[in-house]
Amino acid sequence: MPSFGTLDREAGNLSRQLAEALREAVRKGDLRPADALPSTRALAASLRVARGTVVEAYEQLIAEGFLESKAGAGTRVALALAEPPAREPRVASSQAAQAGLPERAETFARIGREFKPLPPVPFAISVPTGLTAPGDIWRRLGNRLRARGPASPTGYANPLGALALREAIADYVRKSRSVRCEADQVIVTSGTQQGLFLASQVLLGPRDQAWVENPAYRGVTAILESLPYRDAMVRVPVDAEGLDVEAGIRMAPKARVAFVTPSHQYPLGMPLSMARRAALLAWARSAHGWVVEDDYDSELRYEGSPFPALQGLAPDRVVYLGTFSKILFPSLRLGYVVVPPSLVDAFCGARVLMDRHPPTADQHVLAAFMTEGHLERHVRKVRNVYAEQRLSLIETLEALLPRELAWIEPGDQGMHLVLWLAARLDDHEIVRLAANEGIAVRAASPMFAAGTARPGLILGFGGFLSAQMKAAAERLAAVIATAAT
Ligand SMILES: Cc1ncc(COP(=O)(O)O)c(C=O)c1O
Repeated sequence: MPSFGTLDREAGNLSRQLAEALREAVRKGDLRPADALPSTRALAASLRVARGTVVEAYEQLIAEGFLESKAGAGTRVALALAEPPAREPRVASSQAAQAGLPERAETFARIGREFKPLPPVPFAISVPTGLTAPGDIWRRLGNRLRARGPASPTGYANPLGALALREAIADYVRKSRSVRCEADQVIVTSGTQQGLFLASQVLLGPRDQAWVENPAYRGVTAILESLPYRDAMVRVPVDAEGLDVEAGIRMAPKARVAFVTPSHQYPLGMPLSMARRAALLAWARSAHGWVVEDDYDSELRYEGSPFPALQGLAPDRVVYLGTFSKILFPSLRLGYVVVPPSLVDAFCGARVLMDRHPPTADQHVLAAFMTEGHLERHVRKVRNVYAEQRLSLIETLEALLPRELAWIEPGDQGMHLVLWLAARLDDHEIVRLAANEGIAVRAASPMFAAGTARPGLILGFGGFLSAQMKAAAERLAAVIATAAT
């Protein structure tokens, strides 16, 4: 059975999504003319959807001429699709084309429907409240610099970002993350999301492939899904040592880029072992590939010092991404890319075309926040708060949830943890039921490649009061128990 991608339960209309996935499988050649499709019952069971959903999708495709159904012979891909001239117009009859939208518009629309911010209630991640908010100092600095300082209005600025901030970032990542760089290799971005997008634009050509961890952050897998060329993304498994480099080499030895989270695999939490780091960099050198390192929350390690960045081992092959979303607050929309000197101009060009440069004012506020020592103090404070929150959430959940229903993935970093669910539970359904109870969680299954998904929940433990977290954990445990009955 070919993979049909993931159905996005939150986006609704599963039969339409399934029909589109089947059309796509035919278009890509994963399903060929005359190939038999599974019975509606079998496909419904494997996708964990109602049988009627599959029946509706099949009926739609039969009506379009994509599939044919003969009594006693089941449903198969239409033979007529084997004729080349018939194939093109049928491809154009995808859902997007029917709606008069270009195919990529449909992809972006689906991503837009998926990426919705969570409300600021437990267990949303990176919600700066109480002790984890930068507070008064941030406001005072902002007022001072905006009134008569460098944050006041100016003309167009450097696409790479304000020099004061690039210098402060270079200093910070050199000291705290063992990154080897100068300020002129730092490009200020509007967060890691933009850094990932820039990297995909600059580093990937039409026939290039990229390794992406399985599971991975949807912010990166969605970018690769949105590219105009197909099959760019190769999902490489991770194990207890992080990315399985040998598997990557077997699957796509000539890939151009590897997108990785070496300090704290997202979402599972393990660091990339030293042996795997060496193997990954050896592959990058021999394949003339690049490693894109997403170092999203590595300041926050609770049992020991943070792991040094991979970039420090190979500054010539690694594109390093950092963000202030986790340690400060996401609405700031400031992050950075550190690139090898040979890539600075290319990233600069891509950045100019995207949005010219980041808004200037907050860059200067952040530069002052960093150079005056506030960021270091803030990191120390936040780390203590999260360390406590994390322990208390683990204790609470372990006391509330029987292991055969849900269990926590161990990990000692970051601001989220993964709560795995028994295989029979549907994480999308639990997300929906939890939302009705005023609890914000994300499903883990969309982070996996099709056919490998495990149900689980991503729980952030930042910012909220302990009492709020405990009450939410109790409600969540009740939701899971009800869903299991
Ligand atoms: C793996 C990963 N990378 C990056 C980010 C941060 O993205 P941004 O800087 O765009 O807010 C997140 C936020 O949730 C994340 O989980």
